Amino acid sequence: MDKLKIFDTTLRDGEQAAGAALNIQEKLEIARALDLLGVDVIEAGFPVTSPGDFEAVKRVAGEIKNCTVCGLARANAKDIDRAYEALKDAVAPRIHVFISASEVHMVHQLKKNRGEVLQLARDMVARAKGYLSDIEFSPMDASRSDPEFLYELLEAVIDAGATTLNIPDTVGYAMPHEFGGLIQNIFTHVRNIDRAVISVHCHDDLGFSVANSMEAVRHGARQVECTINGIGERAGNAALEEVVMAIRTRPDYYDVTTSINSELIYPTSRLVSQRTGFSVQPNKAVVGANAFRHQSGIHQDGVIKMPKTYEIMDPHSVGVPSSSLVLGKLSGRHAFKERLAELGYNLSEADFDRAFNAFKELADKKKEVADRDLESIVAEEQRTVVE
Ligand code: KIV
Ligand code: ZN
Repeated sequence: MDKLKIFDTTLRDGEQAAGAALNIQEKLEIARALDLLGVDVIEAGFPVTSPGDFEAVKRVAGEIKNCTVCGLARANAKDIDRAYEALKDAVAPRIHVFISASEVHMVHQLKKNRGEVLQLARDMVARAKGYLSDIEFSPMDASRSDPEFLYELLEAVIDAGATTLNIPDTVGYAMPHEFGGLIQNIFTHVRNIDRAVISVHCHDDLGFSVANSMEAVRHGARQVECTINGIGERAGNAALEEVVMAIRTRPDYYDVTTSINSELIYPTSRLVSQRTGFSVQPNKAVVGANAFRHQSGIHQDGVIKMPKTYEIMDPHSVGVPSSSLVLGKLSGRHAFKERLAELGYNLSEADFDRAFNAFKELADKKKEVADRDLESIVAEEQRTVVE
């Protein structure tokens, strides 16, 4: 089976979600969690945009050793030089160069013609290649670009040294069948396409980001760009947890594997939700609070007799705490400790005692203490200790 690379852009496109700014410490904490999760590439940021983002990419590059660390750059010399400066200490650095390829972007935003875009893409990929061997190129708004121009652009950047060609559905406009067809056509029409890995980057404006990514995988894409909880610009990006679990759950359909440690999906989802302040909707696939909870009597009866009746994934396989364990005022230290461990917390004895007391106080006021209440208790506990 082929390996599908998981390129996580939570720290770059995810952070572009309005209101989701992360500080350097938060970015480092999420990068460590992504590394443990087993992603192949972490896109740590867009170094030229601010001194803070430059520093965050530099720190992630210096610390993360098990996967590629990538920085984004527009197709201009300043962006590329700055990205290299931020990334140069990484064990496996990658520069991701992008330029718009659709008519509407080139005419109204870039104010450049096709020839100029082609020249810039070729020259700037070559410039990045002068620094590093691992270069990714994205023709922005690819799904709304003229396919003939797109093929020409991809051929030019392969010649200039790009090793990953990322095809973005920047505004979430494509339909699954159409996007799969575009990927297939790229394999058919682009010269020397076998020299590069084809990647996809889909947005969720019409709710098709995961469907489009998966259709691309069926047509030969071997890298998917995604974010934890699907956060990202506007309606967000393809959700990592959905892509990974579709592959795990339907091996009959997708002939690829990933190196994701799926048991760490839920704790990573909680961490990203806490640090960005973006709550996860209860009915969110894979990581929503209700994803493995059964309300109707018929469903409960079925799950008790045989979980597979209504659960297509084992909740433990994505690290979701046991679906039957409800924490409330009658719960003891053992259940509390178990749930904290499932959420990825391992407190010292003294911290645990204080957290348990806070839990009991809260449980007196609420019917059920939810995971996010536990996270607030631990966060409050850690804040008090630091102060
Ligand atoms: O959506 C997009 O086109 C992007 C590119 C920078 C890859 O985020
Ligand atoms: Zn994007």
